Amino acid sequence: MHITSVYFLTVAALWCPAISAEWTAVQRKVYIPWDLEATPLQIKTDSTLGSGDRIVVWMYDKNSTYISSVGVNFSSPMKYLIQYCTNSYTDLPVQPPVEVDKIWTFTKTETAFIITCNDVEVVNYLFADSSNSGCFPKWGGSDVEQIQVDTNWGKASDFYRAEWTVVQKSVNVPWDLEGTTLQIKTDFTLGISNDRIRATAPTAGQTCRTEVDKIWTITKSETNIIITCNNVEVLNYLFTDSSDDRCVTKLGGDVVEEISFGSSDTASHLYRAEWTAVERNIPWDLEATRLQIKTDSTVGNFDWIMVNMYDKDSSYIGNVALTFSSTMKYYIGSCTNSWTDLPVQPPVEVEKIWMITKTETAIIITCNNVEVLNYLFADSSNSKCVTRWGGDVVEEIQFHSWDNATDFYRAGILLYNQMGYDGAIPHLILSATVRSDRARTQTGSWEAAEPGKIITIICNRKHVLLGGDGEITCNNDYNWSTNVKDLECKPISKLDLR
Ligand SMILES: *[C@@H]1O[C@H](CO)[C@@H](O)[C@H](O)[C@H]1NC(C)=O
Ligand SMILES: *[C@@H]1O[C@H](CO)[C@@H](O)[C@H](O)[C@H]1NC(C)=O
Ligand SMILES: *[C@@H]1O[C@H](CO)[C@@H](O)[C@H](O)[C@H]1NC(C)=O
Ligand SMILES: *[C@@H]1O[C@H](CO)[C@@H](O)[C@H](O)[C@H]1NC(C)=O
Repeated sequence: MHITSVYFLTVAALWCPAISAEWTAVQRKVYIPWDLEATPLQIKTDSTLGSGDRIVVWMYDKNSTYISSVGVNFSSPMKYLIQYCTNSYTDLPVQPPVEVDKIWTFTKTETAFIITCNDVEVVNYLFADSSNSGCFPKWGGSDVEQIQVDTNWGKASDFYRAEWTVVQKSVNVPWDLEGTTLQIKTDFTLGISNDRIRATAPTAGQTCRTEVDKIWTITKSETNIIITCNNVEVLNYLFTDSSDDRCVTKLGGDVVEEISFGSSDTASHLYRAEWTAVERNIPWDLEATRLQIKTDSTVGNFDWIMVNMYDKDSSYIGNVALTFSSTMKYYIGSCTNSWTDLPVQPPVEVEKIWMITKTETAIIITCNNVEVLNYLFADSSNSKCVTRWGGDVVEEIQFHSWDNATDFYRAGILLYNQMGYDGAIPHLILSATVRSDRARTQTGSWEAAEPGKIITIICNRKHVLLGGDGEITCNNDYNWSTNVKDLECKPISKLDLR
């Protein structure tokens, strides 16, 4: 091996770059339907004072038009922001209780915003009291119909749920019961229904009888219903155990989209959803792992691909977008100032696999293996382009709520670079998890492996390669000749030499 530079082998998942990883169905960043004036929002955190974590909630009207936002900063003392009202983050007039686990309740009325923490009111903000004339017009009245719990600026929020809602009998409430567990407060006789299903739940178990306040949960999967009472499971009912065939045909599968409390239900007073985990960005080291996107949108239908990119602190870098206009256009946030025609138009097939490759200096987009864009950050007239996108920066991605083209995505992994090496045999480096090593290895120009390519794995000084020999070949079926997952560079100091 006439190789002089040294590399460090760390992580162990990789493939030849073309076709290997399974597709994942895309989950776009979604607006959560939420009538905030009717239903207070609860958020659960375990962030500590002084951590600088934030809760940030964005508010939208029913047309998804942005209204405003509310933030709470875990500074010391803690601060809050009501956008357009407080002009900056301001100390909470009452500081929250000391417990680490906190439940925050955000209540909006037509005239005020109230925040409590573990049942202590920490601020009660009257819109009319603001010195900012924009405050009341933005916040007054009842417009909030959708929210987003921000995970990029506001890393504090772990879970959210609605406050208790008063039961109105015989009113259908949208409820995806297979996705969201229902909690009910107090005694029990309940009908669950969509238009066709009305199953009367069984009588309660004995475990609750001695307690006055009862919280029941109803969790439904495609195959069973589980009921708990004050955290005790009182029923786990498998539909297939029923002697009545209708049990499986009516209740089996992902069917319940609405519920209503029956008119004969004299017990249920309040209900709410169980905690829902706040959706995080998708961890994605874009400089090490190319992003493949599958679409069946057609040119001229104006669908969008839009992927937001974030750095290791989840700070927003910019987005990459494509629109299926009659001449397809692209947009790179902070770089292109408007939609721009793709220099090469994609092939005509309806089923398209797009691949977004990012190096330290460029974004390259291919469609069904045809390169349609090779965008050098340095060519942008916008100076933010290089400062934001340059280098090894992208660590997270998120499909934007406007993305209506992406059906699936998966990894297409970059395998080696040739930095510091002059021969024909490229080095393998694996998408490293150890940051200090990455800084050293991930420079230079990236290339992808293709069938026939031989790659040599070398370890850093004082490390030994275990699990196979140092040469692996990319096969015609795009699999490596050696299972790279089995290879490891182990520090000599950690070898057992006996
Ligand atoms: C190549 O990889 C694919 C996908 O992981 C797998 O189904 C197939 O069995 C592999 N072929 C060989 C020869 O290992
Ligand atoms: C929302 O859209 C509807 C029609 O789609 C329109 O009539 C209404 O004015 C819009 N509301 C707001 C607040 O923009
Ligand atoms: C939030 O608090 C942290 C820690 O005190 C502070 O560094 C940061 O600047 C604050 N952020 C805002 C937006 O006030
Ligand atoms: C996809 O989203 C874009 C942007 O919101 C919109 O202009 C377009 O009409 C949508 N396409 C379809 C088919 O709904």
